[in-house]
Amino acid sequence: MTQVRDRDVLTLPRVPVIPLTDGIGRRFEYLRLSLTDVCNFRCSYCLPDGYRKQCGKPQELSVAEIERAVRAFASLGLWKVRLTGGEPTIRPDFEEVARAVSSVPGIRQVAMTTNGYRLAERASVWRDAGVSAINISVDSLDPARFAEITGHDRLAEVMAGIDAAQAAGFERIKLNAVLMGGVNDDELDSMTSFVVERDLSLRFIEVMRTNDNAEFFAARHVPGIGVVQRLEAAGWQRLPRAPGSGPAVEFGHARARGRIGIIAPYAKDFCASCNRLRLGSDGKFHLCLFGDGGFDLRDLLQADHQHDELISRIAGLTMGKTPGHRLHHGDSGATPHLASIGG
Ligand code: 5AD
Ligand code: SF4
Repeated sequence: MTQVRDRDVLTLPRVPVIPLTDGIGRRFEYLRLSLTDVCNFRCSYCLPDGYRKQCGKPQELSVAEIERAVRAFASLGLWKVRLTGGEPTIRPDFEEVARAVSSVPGIRQVAMTTNGYRLAERASVWRDAGVSAINISVDSLDPARFAEITGHDRLAEVMAGIDAAQAAGFERIKLNAVLMGGVNDDELDSMTSFVVERDLSLRFIEVMRTNDNAEFFAARHVPGIGVVQRLEAAGWQRLPRAPGSGPAVEFGHARARGRIGIIAPYAKDFCASCNRLRLGSDGKFHLCLFGDGGFDLRDLLQADHQHDELISRIAGLTMGKTPGHRLHHGDSGATPHLASIGG
């Protein structure tokens, strides 16, 4: 097995890094890679009835296919990969995937998104497999609410997981809270207090409309601007945007160790700073979360000698990325829920 790998690496064509851009000059440095669309949680905005296997759904990409895809994106200048899902750690070979992706030349940061299940016991294993940044979903700090939102009474485990991630030496830890009117929008104060003492970034995410959650969205969506106003009134200040940073707007406070961010996809100009591309667990390449049904790359992930053809297909498709989503027109594209394409 090791021998085959070594030979594969040696026969790989040496391709210079060509920066990947689209038709309006946005540069892409960041790939979100969904490892599976399976999830064991039942978050009310995403999979309220739990994950259901679809008949005829293609198999998940193998480690070898994933590695070829990441090599191609790295040749195009992408240096950051986020392993996501569904719940990526459901895959039994999650650690193997993390090691393979972090060993690809040119990949400088491997991040993961998780619902925190098993984080307390696995944090150091994942860190050792090369993952250096982690996003953990925590929609409420109240145990009963957490259970109601996710279908799992596991807040204590997730909190222990956050401690374990800090102890394991993750360089960047972010907590994601989906903002839901009448569900958790009264928790701003307790959530902000939580990051005052901790070197963490907490991000409120506006609930996004997908094909499956229209009713939930209509009932629960609240604009992030309300959070911004309350943070500013409490002395939080907008931090300068780091180059290459994504669409979150971040705030800091003189007396807080942590930071707070808002991700507001319905805000004006949100798409202008988009720096990400997505690869689904079935090998479909998505230019936008709310765009298309995806462009299949799998036929070009079968052998190392397809590398050049693969990078020209990726570069060609990326030129066609649309300037913005059509969420304002009630069009959420082809995405049934975020677990299907990588949240
Ligand atoms: N709207 C906003 N965020 C969502 N997520 C999943 N579905 C949605 C949605 N409809 C986010 C959750 C989770 C991450 C995996 O994706 O915050 O943290
Ligand atoms: Fe699972 Fe994440 Fe969807 Fe929740 S939001 S059901 S944790 S994929």
